[in-house]
Amino acid sequence: MPFEMSPFCCWGLPAALLALLFCPGSGEAAFEVYASPEQLVVKHGASSEINCSTSCLQPTISGLETTLSKTLLDKQPQWERYRVSNVSNSTVVYCHFTCSGKQMLRNVSVTVFHPPEQVLLKLQPTWVTVGNAFTIECSVPAVAPLENLTLTLLRGQEPLHMHTFVGATAAPQEARITHNSTAHKEDGRHNFSCRAELDLRPRGGGLIRRTSEPQVLEIHEPMPDNQMVIIIAVVSVLLLLFVASVLLCFVFGQQWHQRRRGNYGVQAAWRRLRRSYRA
Ligand SMILES: *[C@@H]1O[C@H](CO)[C@@H](O)[C@H](O)[C@H]1NC(C)=O
Ligand SMILES: *[C@@H]1O[C@H](CO)[C@@H](O)[C@H](O)[C@H]1NC(C)=O
Ligand SMILES: *[C@@H]1O[C@H](CO)[C@@H](O)[C@H](O)[C@H]1NC(C)=O
Repeated sequence: MPFEMSPFCCWGLPAALLALLFCPGSGEAAFEVYASPEQLVVKHGASSEINCSTSCLQPTISGLETTLSKTLLDKQPQWERYRVSNVSNSTVVYCHFTCSGKQMLRNVSVTVFHPPEQVLLKLQPTWVTVGNAFTIECSVPAVAPLENLTLTLLRGQEPLHMHTFVGATAAPQEARITHNSTAHKEDGRHNFSCRAELDLRPRGGGLIRRTSEPQVLEIHEPMPDNQMVIIIAVVSVLLLLFVASVLLCFVFGQQWHQRRRGNYGVQAAWRRLRRSYRA
């Protein structure tokens, strides 16, 4: 065993060093290609600029490989700046430089987004009694990429419900959420709204935020309703009692009159009878 190991321990390291010094590829590979920005986020149909650069002092061939329509804006030996325009689909573009016969690439992902142009909020019904159910619906037409979208339903400044999406396709889609809630007394004191946030920061872009028009939920409280019923009942009973007493008075009054007239009649007849007897 020690005899077998000896050639490696004696010759392995110098051989590797020699290979590093004289291998023809190792020296030329020591150049880099850069792209700025490293990722592109472009609004659908818009254009963007990209700067390809290299550490190679004298690149022989250079360019931007893409299917997008491109314009060379400016060029120096170690960098070139392009504009890519009418970007309609997410894609990848490549900056390339060739230095001493060796080509290096740098790929740049291009994400196309459709911003939330409209955020539509709908309360159903818009008029609800405390304790009853109502629905908050928020929709954003034609937005992409859906997986970067968050919809938040707000009551005043307070978030009620939040939803993120799992986007399967890169094509713009309608984002829609529905949230069922129960009406509270304080719901009538705040505006409802829906906030759409397209967060393109993980892809090298910014945060696009848009909020719907505020909507008011008309809250109907059942308490005054009960009071009304009680008031109407009391008034009805009082009215009934009044009418009944008036009727009773009338009836009793009639009877009393009749009785009195009846008595007079009897007395008069008695008097007449006594007079005729005396006569
Ligand atoms: C392009 O990038 C290189 C390297 O970062 C930089 O020196 C050069 O100024 C940039 N060009 C433009 C037009 O921004
Ligand atoms: C932009 O691209 C669309 C389809 O990708 C094409 O129909 C349209 O003509 C292009 N517009 C320009 C100005 O190049
Ligand atoms: C609700 O929104 C309307 C219209 O924007 C506004 O006039 C009103 O002051 C808001 N109410 C509250 C409680 O924020």
